[in-house]
Amino acid sequence: MRVLVVGGGAREHAIAWGLARSQADVVAVCAQPHPGLDRIAKASLRADPADPAAVVKFAKAQGVRFAVIGPEGPLAAGVADALRTAEVPVVGPSKAGAQIETSKRFCRELMEKHGVHASPRYVSISSPAEVDPAVREFVGPFVVKPVGLTSGKGVWVQGRDFQAPEEGGAYARQLLSGGGSVLLEERMEGEEFSLMAFVTDSGVYPMPVVQDYKRAGVGDEGPNTGGMGSYSQRDHLLPFLSQSHRDAALDVVQRTVQALRAEGIPYRGILYGGFMLTARGPLLIEFNARFGDPEGINALTLYEEGNLAGLLEGVANGRVDRSFLQFRQRATVVKYLAPPGYPLTPSAGGVLELDEPAIEALGVRVLYANVEPAGAGRVKMSTSRAVALVGEASAITEASHRVDAAVARVKGTFTWRPDVGSREDVQRRTEHMRRLLSPGAKPSPLPLSVARPDAPASSAGSLDQVMGPA
Ligand code: AMP
Ligand code: GLY
Repeated sequence: MRVLVVGGGAREHAIAWGLARSQADVVAVCAQPHPGLDRIAKASLRADPADPAAVVKFAKAQGVRFAVIGPEGPLAAGVADALRTAEVPVVGPSKAGAQIETSKRFCRELMEKHGVHASPRYVSISSPAEVDPAVREFVGPFVVKPVGLTSGKGVWVQGRDFQAPEEGGAYARQLLSGGGSVLLEERMEGEEFSLMAFVTDSGVYPMPVVQDYKRAGVGDEGPNTGGMGSYSQRDHLLPFLSQSHRDAALDVVQRTVQALRAEGIPYRGILYGGFMLTARGPLLIEFNARFGDPEGINALTLYEEGNLAGLLEGVANGRVDRSFLQFRQRATVVKYLAPPGYPLTPSAGGVLELDEPAIEALGVRVLYANVEPAGAGRVKMSTSRAVALVGEASAITEASHRVDAAVARVKGTFTWRPDVGSREDVQRRTEHMRRLLSPGAKPSPLPLSVARPDAPASSAGSLDQVMGPA
């Protein structure tokens, strides 16, 4: 069967890889030459993936059985709608469904209207005159976020990206001067996790939970990025996240899908809940209407022996057979290499030299993001994330070490986070969560919106069991 992949990042490389492995003939739309997709695809269109007419024309000419849309841009531009109108089934929601990601205001208001109580306290504003009164609504620290898409980079958190409330107010005014609306939210404290699910007419099917590393620097220092890396644990939970936390988050995802349906918005695709595990239970940071990048890479790596083409065809057609949902019980770690200065002052044009066979011999896969081929084993970076290296093992530390060994074989100048999935880092997060969830912890001054889960921290016994030896 022929399957169209729309988009040209490492996530789309992983999707195409999985489809090809399950005997699909992949064809791709991506804007520029792509060292990974070009190897896999039987045919490629160089066009803007967010151009509905170009994508539909190519899909029809290629006679594809269905399409998979990777990034949010094409969803926001209505590419899924255009494909469905042309009778091409799609993994990816309509433009209306994608509002769950493209408008943080739509998302919060939908949840509120339908009684999905998993939001922090928030105020939505659309004019500069509303800024000061809104800032005064918050007794504690708050967060300022543009309502629209920002690739994870527009959010400012008090205590990190700004200090005094007035600075947050000034940032909100700056955002408003560019048009659009802004959300102010209570700053939640806890650890983040990503719960992605396949959503069809027949139900919501969760993937293993993943933790993303959003900040640019080691120890979560520096500005927000698209995601510098991510890890997942063998039992599909996380060292600080129990089954009851996961189930509470899944309930939020399921009830949000029902809320969309109740609004007359059916949803076929991936729904990704970005959550913060807090002392009040999991609260929603944001929804995305697609596989996370990098988190989708962890999930797809665990799906590697499954029939991805069969699974995604089911999603596109609204019905999934549960027998397709088999994720392997392994730990995975993804680390991204990005151009120096990423994300604030990235320098484009640097070359990376990768000996792929040597890296693969270490049990690590190379997935290409925003790079162009530059001759044998060489790729040229642009201004965003360049290459994802994916390792797996029975325990997180070992998977992380494998990726480190692979990074050591890459020649060139780049920035990355060696601490993704490292023992010290995961321990720090687990301790942080243990402190927050301990019975003696200071209770939140705000009303409880989600039942406090009974289980304290870790799911899978001792940290040693899930991390493996240091
Ligand atoms: P978003 O684009 O909404 O995913 O936000 C990007 C990042 O900002 C999140 O991954 C969090 O680290 C942080 N963030 C967003 N909203 C909040 C909040 N209400 N409280 C604390 N951190 C937040
Ligand atoms: N890793 C965050 C995202 O995919 O939006």
